[in-house]
Amino acid sequence: MKGIILAGGYGTRLYPTTKVINKHLIPIYNKPMVYYPLSVLMLCGIRDVLIVTNPDDMSAFEKLLGDGSHLGISVSYTSQNEPKGLAHGLLMGEEFASGDSVCLILGDNIFYGHGLPELLRGARKLVEEKGGACVFGYYVKDPERFGVVEFDRSGKAVSLEEKPSNPRSNYAVVGLYFYDSTVFERAKKISPSSRGELEITSVNQSYLDDGKLEVRILGRGYAWFDAGTYDSFLKAGEFVATIERRTGLMIACLEEIAFNNGWIDEVQLKKLADSLKNTEYGHYLYKLLGEEAVGKL
Ligand code: DAU
Repeated sequence: MKGIILAGGYGTRLYPTTKVINKHLIPIYNKPMVYYPLSVLMLCGIRDVLIVTNPDDMSAFEKLLGDGSHLGISVSYTSQNEPKGLAHGLLMGEEFASGDSVCLILGDNIFYGHGLPELLRGARKLVEEKGGACVFGYYVKDPERFGVVEFDRSGKAVSLEEKPSNPRSNYAVVGLYFYDSTVFERAKKISPSSRGELEITSVNQSYLDDGKLEVRILGRGYAWFDAGTYDSFLKAGEFVATIERRTGLMIACLEEIAFNNGWIDEVQLKKLADSLKNTEYGHYLYKLLGEEAVGKL
């Protein structure tokens, strides 16, 4: 399975900041937003990742993450000339996927919770072995802001709607989607919505119509944020800061995940720590190695 991160869009809800910098590069507390979705893909065991972004922003992402080899992964980049919707962004990754299944994640979605890697790997396994698609529903108080899934009494998904004014349930479909290789053909067949976008909900609807959509619940023990507005952005940052200060453990530290996955060794981790030695982030990497920090803060 390959990973695709959607990091395009105009980011107008975060203007004026995002007039000059891509939304996914501004920090959520102590690291760029894109680290969070990338960490989710890495926790899922995915090593081949494509970042889809605006043509003008590609070089900044490349500067940040390079080809990913320092993390033992492969990161490539492609542009979406205009933000014509999430399914349109996904289609930019067809060549990259080259017939493989994909995990699509929205660049502004942040996930946290005990057991997350197992949950992700379970969804991956399901799609790799049985095909179809797997998405997650999360109970929210403002479902009208999201894609919404309705369940029947047996817990089976029966309807999907994108930002309905009268939501049929409180379950938002989070921005993390596991798809088999038919997803691109499906995405090509959908039509733009009333707001003129190729909606990811229409792609999910195509799987639902064929009885091939599995919707799992992301329970209340998990935190999920969509950092698309100043308010949600601030809340996500506060959440990360609270957890990290309390535990002393970082959320979405890419180097740590790569190391724990066995994708980089101690020598490489030390090299990465040295390159950040005068930062708190670097000191955290030294701690992982059980070493005294070298640089001063
Ligand atoms: O966050 C979950 C929600 O994300 C889902 O519940 C909805 O079903 C889904 O449509 C989406 O809704 P949003 O209104 O939050 O999507 P937004 O336009 O904010 O885009 C989400 C991310 O994708 C954002 O980080 C920018 C990026 N993007 C967006 C568009 C429209 C692209 O890369 N390309 C695009 O064309």
